[in-house]
Amino acid sequence: MRFFTLISVLATIASATLATAHPGSAQDVIRHTGRSVGKESVINGVKHYISKPFKKSTTAVIYLTDVFGLPLPENRLLVDSFARAGFFTIAPDLFQNKPAPADLNTPGFDVAGFLALHGPNVTDPIIAKTVQYVRKELGYKKVAVTGYCFGGRYSFRFLQKGKGVDVGFAAHPSLLEDGEVKAVTKPVSIAAADHDDLLPLDRLTQLEGILKNTTLPWTVSVYGGTSHGFGVRANVTDPRQKFGKEEAFFQAVRFFQSWA
Ligand SMILES: *[C@@H]1O[C@H](CO)[C@@H](O)[C@H](O)[C@H]1NC(C)=O
Ligand SMILES: *[C@@H]1O[C@H](CO)[C@@H](O)[C@H](O)[C@H]1NC(C)=O
Ligand SMILES: *[C@@H]1O[C@H](CO)[C@@H](O)[C@H](O)[C@H]1NC(C)=O
Repeated sequence: MRFFTLISVLATIASATLATAHPGSAQDVIRHTGRSVGKESVINGVKHYISKPFKKSTTAVIYLTDVFGLPLPENRLLVDSFARAGFFTIAPDLFQNKPAPADLNTPGFDVAGFLALHGPNVTDPIIAKTVQYVRKELGYKKVAVTGYCFGGRYSFRFLQKGKGVDVGFAAHPSLLEDGEVKAVTKPVSIAAADHDDLLPLDRLTQLEGILKNTTLPWTVSVYGGTSHGFGVRANVTDPRQKFGKEEAFFQAVRFFQSWA
C-alpha cells in the first residue's frame, strides 16, 4: 500500500514536471517563422486577421500593426502568438488594402504622403469599429490593445476614457504626442529600443515623466541591442534582438493578464 502510494506520488510529480516543462518555454508561445494559423475575415467592410486561442478567453486583444500591415508575415505570426498566450486576437487592416511596401525605400513610395492619408481622422474610426465588434457582437468584457510603431500611437488614443479599451501596450510608438499620453486613463506599458530615431531615449524620458504623474499602473522597458521595429521585425538570428522581441511580447502578455 505504502509502496503503491509512493509510486503514485512519484508518477504525479513526473507528470506535473512534464506538463510544465513545455509551456515554460518561449518557443511554444511566440513563433517567428513558419506558417500563420489565423484567418482573414471581412467585418463591417474592413479586412481583419483573426487568431483564436485553444480555450475560450475572457479578454480580447486588438492588434494594431505597423505601416506594413496585415501582409507582413511577422504581424500575422505575432497575432497568432497572442492567441497561443490565451487571448482572442484580432488585427484590423488599417490601410484599406494598401499598406506601405515591405521596403520603404521602394522608388515612388512617399512616406509623408502615406502618413498624411492615414491620420487619426481615418484610422480612429476603423479601430473604433473593431472595438465595437469585439465588445458588442462577440461579447468580450475585457479588451486589450497592442500596437507597434504606427499602431503604437493608437494604443494610447484608445486608452482614453470612453474608448472601450481596458489596458494597452505599445512597442516603439511613433508620432505619439504629449496630449495623447496625458489623456490616458487606463494602464499602459511601453517597450522601446535603445536605438530608435522615431522614439529616442530622451523622448522616452519625457513620456515617463507624464506617466509618473498619473496613478495608473504603467511600465516602460528599454531593450539594449535593439532598434526601431524590433517588437515585430527583429532580426532573430541576433540573440539580443531575439531576446528583446520575445521579452517585449511577454511584457505585453503579463501586463494584460495583470491589468485587463
Ligand atoms: C483627414 O485629414 C487629412 C489632413 O487634414 C485630410 O487631407 C483628409 O482629407 C482627411 N480625410 C478624411 C477622410 O476626412
Ligand atoms: C507633473 O505634474 C506636475 C505638478 O502638477 C507638473 O508641474 C509637471 O509639469 C508634470 N510633469 C509632466 C511631465 O507632465
Ligand atoms: C541578422 O543578424 C545576424 C547576426 O547578428 C547578422 O549576421 C545578419 O547580417 C543580420 N541580418 C540582417 C538582414 O541584418
